[in-house]
Amino acid sequence: MSIMQERHAAVVEFISRVKRVEAEDGVTPRALDRIKPLLAGLATRNELFPKDHFTVPGADKGRIYRLAEDPDHRFALYASAGVPGKKQPPHNHTTWASIAGVYGQEHNVFYERIDNRSTPGQGKLRRKGELTVEKGKAVAFLPDDFHTIEVLGGEPSLHLHLYGLSLEHLPGRIAFETADGGAYKTFPANPNIATLEIPPGALKEMIRDGEELAILDVREEGAFARAHLLFAASLPLSHLETRAAALVPRKGTRVVVMDGDGGAPAQRAARKLFDFGYTNIAVLRGGAEGWKQAGFELFSGVYVPSKAFGEVVEHECATPRIEAAELKKKIEAGENLVVLDSRPMDEFSRMSIPGGVDCPGAELVYRVHDMAPDPNTTVIVNCAGRTRSIIGAQSLINAGIPNKVMALKNGTMGWHLQGFELARGETRHAPAPSAEGLARAKRRAAEVGRRFAVKHIGHDALSRFRAERAQRTLYQFDVRTPDEFRAGHLPESRMAPGGQLVQATDTYAATRNARIVLIDNDGVRATMTASWLVQMGWPEVYVLDGALEGRALETGPEPPAVLGDPGAVDAVAPQRLKALIDRGDAVVVDLDTSLAYRRGHVPGAWFAVRSTLPRSLGKLPGAETLVLTSPDGILAKFAAGDLAGTGRKVVALEGGTQAWRAAGLPLEAEDGRWAEPPDDVWYKPYDNEKAVEASMKAYLSWEVALIEQVARDGDARFRTGF
Ligand SMILES: [Fe+2]
Repeated sequence: MSIMQERHAAVVEFISRVKRVEAEDGVTPRALDRIKPLLAGLATRNELFPKDHFTVPGADKGRIYRLAEDPDHRFALYASAGVPGKKQPPHNHTTWASIAGVYGQEHNVFYERIDNRSTPGQGKLRRKGELTVEKGKAVAFLPDDFHTIEVLGGEPSLHLHLYGLSLEHLPGRIAFETADGGAYKTFPANPNIATLEIPPGALKEMIRDGEELAILDVREEGAFARAHLLFAASLPLSHLETRAAALVPRKGTRVVVMDGDGGAPAQRAARKLFDFGYTNIAVLRGGAEGWKQAGFELFSGVYVPSKAFGEVVEHECATPRIEAAELKKKIEAGENLVVLDSRPMDEFSRMSIPGGVDCPGAELVYRVHDMAPDPNTTVIVNCAGRTRSIIGAQSLINAGIPNKVMALKNGTMGWHLQGFELARGETRHAPAPSAEGLARAKRRAAEVGRRFAVKHIGHDALSRFRAERAQRTLYQFDVRTPDEFRAGHLPESRMAPGGQLVQATDTYAATRNARIVLIDNDGVRATMTASWLVQMGWPEVYVLDGALEGRALETGPEPPAVLGDPGAVDAVAPQRLKALIDRGDAVVVDLDTSLAYRRGHVPGAWFAVRSTLPRSLGKLPGAETLVLTSPDGILAKFAAGDLAGTGRKVVALEGGTQAWRAAGLPLEAEDGRWAEPPDDVWYKPYDNEKAVEASMKAYLSWEVALIEQVARDGDARFRTGF
């Protein structure tokens, strides 16, 4: 078990024992006498507190690292690192506290307050005793006990500090100027608590230890896409409340938060995750930059594990491919072939190969028998670039269909780069399978399942997995089409069309080594999807047998899973906003992606990014009401909450831009008002307005080069040979 896991287990156990003591004895000297040995016991376990996890940066005298804190800020445990010379004047805590030594010496002098508290700002102290707290020793304080501390000796020290309430929520503490008392000052709640940091080497070991691990990169996706860790998931600080629960469903998951350089954004995100109830969090020291300096690989682009996997599949399985020019000739010659596009409908209708039919990834084996019933029909699978055409074609080959199967090399981009016209606005899609097509699909999928040792479970096992969710992460993905999902799905399941789940796995499941249960109606698509996740190295993938039979289903889209609370935020309805805009009384700020903003926004709206909105305020017109909007209005409310205290009148658009559109109000596509540069999301090669061809070429070579880079990184566990 990694140190992070062991420490977390020990801390969780310790806090639960402290809670029992407090419940039994209250906040009393007797309770503290029982808590002291518990804390001293935890502190003696030196293996849990390696020196390089608890450093003191730069010229500072000390740094306090948070080890645990309940969402209501009670039972806060810290590791306080000090260097010789660290000193604190006599102060109280206003909550109970206990200190125990891990290493080094922290000298404590104890005082009691003896004045009658009639003069504000003045008081008297009497010295009660002293103790040098070191390994094996502990002290404790009632809320109004006073003490001084001083780090002794020539070595850094580390001490565990336990408080009834977190230091960030103790605004009324006082500190005297001298040991006798006299004048005192109330000092503010300590805002400088850090989440503990781990060095890059420790993270590298954790990636390899096979236990659950979520590496969350909290920069905006644009920065993430320039340089990130292979197995980091993009979870921008802007979207923590709306995306964290789906990406990391288990609160006890080992989470490493990172940003570009291990600075404030990662610490801010870690603080929020503690508030949401996550308990086992560390920050990657030095962020992406520190990772690189440690000699490890950084990757550009998005969905990198999946993309690299696609390249490995093509290489190892020798997936047959066809050049765009050759395909064009065959089409023109009227050869017996069908072009199946393995992307979702929205991407297909944006641009497709003329004559192609949409049949997204997991649907290929399911629907191909009706699309190409004649074994002499050649089946060409394409996407925009490489991954989904390779995986799609190889799916059909693994399934053993009698037809000749080829991947279109470089997909629609390859077609475009040859100077051929693409079709636009197409909506042709492969129909649901006939009875005979389905029977064949089932037979072939079952064989694929056997070959790749896909595991099956029933609802009894799923119930057990659900019961174990506090210990083991469980993802329940419905891999059918979005329409089928909305028409009826198992409660708790998430919409994850199989092809997309394989193509962008990190956007669905951030916790490596989690349990994944795949759901569909007859096993074909779940089995095909599972076969790929198994080859990608996911250790526990299951197909749920008889998943939907006789079950109560929910309809409609997946409900948003939101963490935290934006607080009381004023909202305006779309029509009311329209009136405000018409009178010139509102400045609208759109927090949707820059891509969506370019496609259409509330007329006159500015583009901004939630995480940097406070600093963008100065760029916005000042006088009017600030109206924030986002796709469904949820993010807008959180962002409005962020601006409380800035002095600006801020409201959210109720229901967001969707509600505006639903009210029949117009959107404008003209883009001109940028409070932030559009660096919030990764732009696909064809999203770039300028130099589209150059972007496409660069992108395609990047994909091909991933094989070597992933090999250098060394942590992928791809396995195609079964
Ligand atoms: Fe203290």
